[in-house]
Amino acid sequence: MKKIYKIAVIAGDGIGPEVISEGIKVVDKVAELDGSFEFEFTHFPWGCEYYLDHGQMMPIDGLQQLRSFDAIYLGAVGYPGVPDHISLWDLLLKIRKGFNQYVNLRPITLLEGAPCPLNDVSRDQIDMLVIRENSEGEYAGAGDWLFKGKPHEVVLQTGVFSRVGTERIIRYAFEEARKQRKSLTSISKGNALNYSMVFWDQVFDEVSKEYPDVETHSYLVDAAAMFFVKQPWRFEIVVTSNLFGDIITDLGAAISGGLGLAAGANINPEREYPSMFEPIHGSAPDIAGKGIANPLASIWSASQMLDFFGHEDWGKRILAAMEQVMVEGNTLTPDMGGTANTNQVGDAVAEKIQVID
Ligand code: NAI
Ligand code: MG
Repeated sequence: MKKIYKIAVIAGDGIGPEVISEGIKVVDKVAELDGSFEFEFTHFPWGCEYYLDHGQMMPIDGLQQLRSFDAIYLGAVGYPGVPDHISLWDLLLKIRKGFNQYVNLRPITLLEGAPCPLNDVSRDQIDMLVIRENSEGEYAGAGDWLFKGKPHEVVLQTGVFSRVGTERIIRYAFEEARKQRKSLTSISKGNALNYSMVFWDQVFDEVSKEYPDVETHSYLVDAAAMFFVKQPWRFEIVVTSNLFGDIITDLGAAISGGLGLAAGANINPEREYPSMFEPIHGSAPDIAGKGIANPLASIWSASQMLDFFGHEDWGKRILAAMEQVMVEGNTLTPDMGGTANTNQVGDAVAEKIQVID
């Protein structure tokens, strides 16, 4: 009996559908080669177009519809014509929060053949995993807008750092560092954020006592941003808050091949709800519909999905296939200096998987 993985696909807006279909192509190839499992994809047409027709990004019972899937595979949401805070909050953040996907895993690894703007950095010196808090913090959505439109207007955006939320992400990161036998770096800002980040640092210290075998470091976020560029080899496993993680992983993407190559997984570690896999880039309206979007980020996130299902060997093989395509260099999209289209890059990766051992 074949294992069937039921995947909910939200291709979304702009280049979302273009890149997602290449990820599907690649994992279908994997399933065909493996023979012991297959994927069953169910497509949900949610996003900005759906919003313009229905006044909402997804139906009211959207989360219930997704609940029974093994995973969610998402392209990108957001498009001119719908305010970004609506598209983000009514779909992506609803899923991340509603399904308690409190861990955001963003690998920052300079794959072979990937372009890197840094001089004097060798390939193995950029190899980290950023573990971003994904459920609260600065993106908790708490705050107020007082005296709107009046001269004495006041806006409050409150960070929410619960003990449960802070401890569980830090503990998850320590477990990962122990498992991988790597150092763990906490990125915070305790000097200026005198409640939230002092608390974060305190919890990091507390939890670290349970892991004397894990080497730890702690940086202020501004210094960390500098070191990402100057000395990226300082970082192995990184744990940080929702906002800081959002920003530094775009920086991480920039030093490890660009947005077209950066993947992210939104994990519910208890597996009580489906986890969600997505490229970290947006819908790229400037190139949407031209067939030139780079599908490698979404293919990488599909490989994270295979890791999550316990097929790490296949996950690695997908990355190796991507590396071969980049090293050969003749089937790449324009953002990587090539002339190939989205479809051709997906085909090339699927083909390489077949020949790699
Ligand atoms: P973006 O990531 O869509 O684009 C930034 C730049 O990178 C653009 O020049 C784009 O052409 C390029 N780019 C991005 N992905 C690419 C790919 N796969 N291949 C080649 N080039 C690529 O970010 P932007 O422009 O700030 O946002 C556009 C829309 O996407 C907004 O509505 C925003 O809210 C939404 N967005 C959605 C995200 C999500 O669904 N997770 C994440 C970030 C933005
Ligand atoms: Mg972001």
